[in-house]
Amino acid sequence: MLQPYVEITRREEFSAAHRLHNPGLSEAENRTLFGICNNLHGHGHNYAFEVTLGGPVPTMSGMVMDLNILMGILKAEVVQQLDHKHLNEDVPWLAGRVTTAENLSVAIWERVAPHLARHAGAKLVKVRVFESRDNFVEYRGQTA
Ligand code: NI
Repeated sequence: MLQPYVEITRREEFSAAHRLHNPGLSEAENRTLFGICNNLHGHGHNYAFEVTLGGPVPTMSGMVMDLNILMGILKAEVVQQLDHKHLNEDVPWLAGRVTTAENLSVAIWERVAPHLARHAGAKLVKVRVFESRDNFVEYRGQTA
């Protein structure tokens, strides 16, 4: 018998500094491309992110996945790694990426996905990263 498909989401927050800067471009090109976000010594954001999983709701547990387990994974793998850090300098798994919200959403997906693999049934659906209340990006594991 088919089971209902439901999506579940956990939201977490962290505060961090970053600088939008591509070392492959000149200083002038960086200033033109990134504007004030290229400020030499960086700037900060109160970030939030949401990780959404989808899957069947088993009759026995009634849960797609235990949200407390998802919370634990997100705190260990993302929040503790990024909170009060400089994203360009302090985080090995962000090295080599321009620290935009877009790239953060992809990096968080890649970081979290292997830890979900053993929770059969629930599949990663999307990662949202809020750089501010009004600006957010969403990654669904797709390429274009
Ligand atoms: Ni910024």
